[in-house]
Amino acid sequence: MIKLSHKYSLVFLLSFAVLFSSAQEEVREYTNAGENHHCLKCHGQSFYTFYNDWTELDVRKIMPQEYYVDTVMFYSASHWDFKCTDCHTEDYQTFPHDGELRMEFLNTCVDCHGGDEDWEHFKFEDIEEDFNASVHSPETLPNFSCWSCHDPHSYKLDYRNTEDLISTISKNNDACMKCHNQESHMRLHTDEPFKDLATSHEFLPNQRAHYNKVRCIECHGDLDGEALVAHKILPAEESVKNCKECHSKNSLLMASLYKFQSQENRKKFGFYNASILNESYVIGASKNYILNVFTIVVFALSILAILTHAIILRISKKKNHGK
Ligand code: HEC
Ligand code: HEC
Ligand code: HEC
Ligand code: HEC
Ligand code: HEC
Ligand code: HEC
Ligand code: HEC
Repeated sequence: MIKLSHKYSLVFLLSFAVLFSSAQEEVREYTNAGENHHCLKCHGQSFYTFYNDWTELDVRKIMPQEYYVDTVMFYSASHWDFKCTDCHTEDYQTFPHDGELRMEFLNTCVDCHGGDEDWEHFKFEDIEEDFNASVHSPETLPNFSCWSCHDPHSYKLDYRNTEDLISTISKNNDACMKCHNQESHMRLHTDEPFKDLATSHEFLPNQRAHYNKVRCIECHGDLDGEALVAHKILPAEESVKNCKECHSKNSLLMASLYKFQSQENRKKFGFYNASILNESYVIGASKNYILNVFTIVVFALSILAILTHAIILRISKKKNHGK
């Protein structure tokens, strides 16, 4: 009897392990790859070829950078499972493309994600509201849309999935730098003289250190918004200039950059772990020796607190079992 039940539990365990590992490693089937290849054989390369019916010759031309779509990025993006023609009209199948196609209507995020409970946790409607109240609102910049920051062919949900905050920070900031560090992109939206970031941020002592370790939206976003990522970008004069907002223990960063990590960790490990995360960040951010020693002591104390907490829990569990 005992042997049999052992066998059963082994089978159970194995099937669980198989289920678990297959859930861990999502196997993607790129069912649209064949069809998309028709577009990507041109748009996914630095050159394209076509047959010229008039001269009856094969022609090779350079694919302009702004029409280039990176194949690897496309298939690792949030919308990896799409056909090009899910968003673009089927009429693009023919080349040369009809000139009028550039007038095609392209859906925005909310056209697809709005009012759908599967996507409720992203708060698309709140984000749209914040965006409309932002310095980039379509009212002030008519050529601006969600797609201006979310590249349609490479946008990937990052902040929620991240293990590596530094890389997330740099990706988030690249979305802003694309324009604010590049005059040609700014020209698509405004005729105002180009202001370079280095000059407008002269008040910051080490700009590189800041751009690598804090997101632009930490200083420029309205951090009270409903959504996880601040989408209401405030005018320059309302942005954070006060160093103490971050270089102090009760910092802004706790409230924003670690908004998600802290919530998750609180759920998973209880409150202490979240405070360690933030505490360790403060260690890096402060160059003050006495403060560092102080934060390390606090850090050690929190670990001690967690350990004792865990031990007490285990003992009380054992006691309960004993009963
Ligand atoms: C033979 C090469 C070739 C193929 C195949 C091709 N394209 Fe293009 N496409 C181009 C070139 C070159 C341009 C640059 C502008 C032009 O010449 O029309 C372009 C432009 C575009 C544009 C931008 C139009 C604008 O000016 O705003 C879109 C969108 C587009 N293609 C989508 C597609 C899609 C979707 C497919 C597949 C269904 C596809 N293309 C297949 C070569 C190709
Ligand atoms: C999720 C929707 C979506 C999918 C899928 C998609 N596109 Fe696009 N594409 C857009 C949008 C939106 C724009 C306009 C971007 C803008 O206005 O900044 C665009 C623009 C383009 C352009 C013009 C260049 C530019 O940036 O304006 C080309 C070329 C293009 N797409 C090709 C493709 C190809 C090839 C595929 C498939 C591999 C594809 N697209 C898949 C939404 C999509
Ligand atoms: C044409 C309809 C359409 C448009 C436009 C669209 N989406 Fe999606 N989106 C979808 C669908 C469908 C999925 C589910 C894809 C899947 O499960 O493979 C999805 C998935 C997502 C995901 C989840 C991906 C993940 O990794 O969990 C996010 C986040 C997302 N979209 C954000 C956006 C944003 C931001 C925009 C606008 C910049 C946008 N979407 C525009 C239809 C759309
Ligand atoms: C000024 C740039 C900008 C604009 C405009 C913008 N976004 Fe974003 N958005 C971002 C950045 C940066 C992120 C963080 C990306 C990440 O790491 O996941 C983000 C994240 C998101 C997310 C994921 C949030 C989460 O909970 O994880 C959604 C959904 C989203 N944006 C929707 C939209 C919609 C809808 C619009 C238009 C109404 C829009 N965005 C316009 C910059 C922008
Ligand atoms: C597609 C281009 C583009 C992107 C992407 C973009 N911006 Fe902008 N931004 C603009 C334009 C255009 C203006 C109007 C500025 C002007 O007229 O000089 C502007 C204005 C601003 C202003 C107000 C400046 C002032 O004088 O009050 C701030 C702050 C700002 N952006 C921050 C950001 C941040 C933060 C991000 C990323 C989350 C971002 N921008 C992404 C184009 C962009
Ligand atoms: C430490 C906080 C902080 C960070 C980080 C930060 N900014 Fe700023 N930014 C400011 C302040 C404060 C001003 C206003 C400066 C002034 O008026 O003297 C400003 C000004 C601006 C302006 C207006 C420039 C002008 O002269 O009109 C833009 C655009 C801008 N920032 C974009 C960005 C972008 C993009 C990033 C990320 C790469 C970024 N900022 C990172 C605090 C910050
Ligand atoms: C939005 C948060 C934020 C604001 C506001 C802010 N800082 Fe920072 N600062 C940081 C972070 C994060 C780092 C990176 C710490 C690290 O490298 O571990 C940093 C780094 C520094 C450094 C060290 C740079 C180096 O060489 O490593 C100095 C000095 C500094 N900040 C001074 C200031 C001053 C002065 C102000 C006000 C004008 C200011 N900061 C405003 C977040 C901020």
